[in-house]
This record gives sequence, C-alpha cells and structure tokens, in this order.
Amino acid sequence: MRVKSAEFVVSNSEVEKCPKNLLPEYAFIGRSNVGKSSLINMLTDRKSLAKTSGRPGKTQLINHFLINKNWYLVDLPGYGYARVSKSSKKKFQKFITNYFEQRKQLVSAFVLVDIRHKPQPIDLEFMQYLGENEIPFGIIFTKADKLKPQAIERHVAEYCQELLKFWEELPPYFITSSSKTIGQEEVLGFIEATNNE
Ligand code: GTP
Ligand code: MG
Repeated sequence: MRVKSAEFVVSNSEVEKCPKNLLPEYAFIGRSNVGKSSLINMLTDRKSLAKTSGRPGKTQLINHFLINKNWYLVDLPGYGYARVSKSSKKKFQKFITNYFEQRKQLVSAFVLVDIRHKPQPIDLEFMQYLGENEIPFGIIFTKADKLKPQAIERHVAEYCQELLKFWEELPPYFITSSSKTIGQEEVLGFIEATNNE
C-alpha cells in the first residue's frame, strides 16, 4: 500500500469524541519514548505528521490521522512514564482502556517494543490485557538500526521464546527502524491485508 494522503483529524482524551464514522483503525501503543510517533511518520512518509521528542511523555492524547481517506492511524500516549503523577497516570489508564474497550472499529493494535531490551513486564502485561479483551494485536520491534543483524535475530528469538511461555501462538511481529525506514512495507502490507475495505 502507498500512503497517498495523511491528514491529522483530531486529538482528544475521550473516546466519545473520537471520529464517529466507522472507518477501520489501527492504534500504536507502547512505553513512552519507544518510537510510536516516529513510526507513524515513517509509515506515512511524513517528517512531522505526529510530534516526536527525545523526552518521554510527548504524546498525551489520542490522535487520529486519516490515511488515504479510508482508514485511521491512531497515535496514543506511552505507558510507563515515571514522571507523571499517580493521579494523572490513573486518568491516563482510564482513557486508554476506554479507548481499547469501546472502539469497535479498531481492527488491530500494535504494541511497540524497543528491540534492544529484554521483554519487560509492563509490555507483557499490556499484551495480556489486550488478549483478555480479545483485541487483536501485532508487535512492532522499534529502533532496529541500533543493533547489528545478528543481534536483531537473537533479540527477536529471545522475545518470541518469552512470549511462548504465555501464549499458544505468536502474534504477527515486525522489525522496524524509523530512522532507516525499515519495515514500512511489511506493516503497511499487514494493514492493507486486514483492512476490509
Ligand atoms: P511518547 O509520545 O513520549 O510516548 O514517545 P513515542 O513513543 O511517540 O516516541 P517518539 O517517536 O517521540 O521517539 C522517541 C525518541 O526515540 C526520539 O528521540 C526519536 O528520535 C527516537 N527514535 C524513534 N524511532 C527511532 C528509530 O527507529 N531509531 C532510532 N535510532 N531512534 C528512534
Ligand atoms: Mg509519541
């Protein structure tokens, strides 16, 4: 799939205010700073469609982008950001879980994980949560440019091994780098194949 048009539509913290039409959508979630917003820019070939930052906690709202006028890409805030207060963490959790539990047009979530790190409990717990709520998801390994090919292979194999302790089968997964444009075709191809337009 080629991204011919990509437009920012709306940012908000309430699922009720998300676009009302029933276009299929795909949401990107993961720890703060894992590279969600950068990935969205890479996938759409736009430098600054989604705002990125070296400081975690940049994306604070649910952001809808309309792609090719027929599906939505959704940029979400990161979880696990230590510097937000407990009360805002709670509020955050609520609007994110509301989003996942209420957004019927969500075709798939993508959980992003940094390819350099061992599986983190917070990511595994989030995948568990999606599974319990029957929300389909894929895993996107980010920042692949930071490792050599052999190390990528090793880290992915270790990750898969850990996942198979909890899951009977592996979810679809993708190896990406936003700075080197790796994995764009694979992720867009998956979206095209699952988007019943
Ligand atoms: P929050 O909105 O704060 O949750 O972060 P985010 O997950 O949207 O991350 P963002 O895209 O803002 O990127 C965080 C940092 O990681 C930035 O400094 C990016 O330049 C860097 N980064 C993102 N993707 C890549 C990548 O593929 N390779 C490298 N080397 N750096 C990346
Ligand atoms: Mg972001």
